[in-house]
Amino acid sequence: MKLAIDGGKPLLKPFNFTVKPGKEEIQSVLKTLKAGHLTSFEGKNTVQEFEQKFAEYHSCKHAVACNTGTSSIHSAIASMNAKENSEVLVPTYTFITGVTPLLIENLQPVFVDIDIKTLGMDAKLAKNAVTENTAGIIPTHLYGFPCAIEELKKLAGRNSAFLIEDCCQSHGAKVGKKVTGTFGDAGCFSFYLYKNITTGEGGMTTTNREDVCQNLKTMRQCGKSKPDSKEYDRLGFNYRMTDFTAAIGIPQLKKLDINNKKRTENAKVYDKRLKKLGFQTIPAKENTTPVYFKFPALLPEEIAAKKELFDKALKAENVNLPLYNTIPLPKVKFLQELAKKRNFSQKFYEQEFPVTEEVNRRLIAFYTHSLMPKQRIEEICDAIEKVVNYGNW
Ligand SMILES: Cc1ncc(COP(=O)(O)O)c(C=O)c1O
Repeated sequence: MKLAIDGGKPLLKPFNFTVKPGKEEIQSVLKTLKAGHLTSFEGKNTVQEFEQKFAEYHSCKHAVACNTGTSSIHSAIASMNAKENSEVLVPTYTFITGVTPLLIENLQPVFVDIDIKTLGMDAKLAKNAVTENTAGIIPTHLYGFPCAIEELKKLAGRNSAFLIEDCCQSHGAKVGKKVTGTFGDAGCFSFYLYKNITTGEGGMTTTNREDVCQNLKTMRQCGKSKPDSKEYDRLGFNYRMTDFTAAIGIPQLKKLDINNKKRTENAKVYDKRLKKLGFQTIPAKENTTPVYFKFPALLPEEIAAKKELFDKALKAENVNLPLYNTIPLPKVKFLQELAKKRNFSQKFYEQEFPVTEEVNRRLIAFYTHSLMPKQRIEEICDAIEKVVNYGNW
């Protein structure tokens, strides 16, 4: 069979995949707008309602809304009041703004390689990376797979380090019965377009600590700890969420478990079919419930060697591929240059990260979104099969 990239007929019809608001979200926004609520700045509002419901879902004391996952992570880091120049362990393989807010807060990221079984920070390597200058740990639950959060929690506890969970890809994922975002001092969530909960843009931080909750609110309020005060108490920004954003979030939260189930069903299709084609998939670790923000799989070596061509061949068959935004962060040039300028310790730019390198070389991720019909996932698998079987690998 001739591949579409070589002039053959594409196996699939184009599928215009976009995330659209449902009727519940539209009604909720209209209700908020009709009530005259635009911003969360003053009085009782929809943002507070969203925060309360988010905290209830997570069985935690506080949830503080903000305008992006990035501002959630920045606010959480700032809220820990860590000593300037101290070190914070971060995974080598995650989204860039899971790490860069450390640089605004004058802290040093120390990269720790990932574990191929979870794609999250390797807890044993994290233990080796701790020094007396370690102030905190920020692991990511990548692609919705819970990382070794219980081990990392113990490690943080033994070393009086803070633990911030980057849950921007793990809404509703569990270890045992506990949801991600409730293990550490703070859990950070993004509501960007393709996330398991979306408001277009948006963020939320969970915490059980009163002091952290207060700091988060001060951070989003331009540094003011009391909204009616004339004083500014710390470096802060306008990180507030609008009320109509929260109005989208409330029905999205309600649908989270159902949508996660649909994603898991879609993931099962990929898992079964891709394994047969020689791809290495990531099985759920015992006692964990991943939520498949995307479906990651490692390409067979011979295809990995021609990954760009493989991607192009899939796209030519009309397979919808997400943009990759997970990159090996130690390789980012501006970060290396900044590390030199700021005299970061040698380990910042001289370590080797073999697992990250392997994963980066072989990883491909597919949409699992709850709005993607199961039938389309089967068709995507048909196209992958065609490209694997008839391509020149
Ligand atoms: C792991 C991770 N951390 C942080 C972020 C930042 O979130 P946002 O895009 O909402 O600022 C994202 C978003 O893609 C993410 O996936």
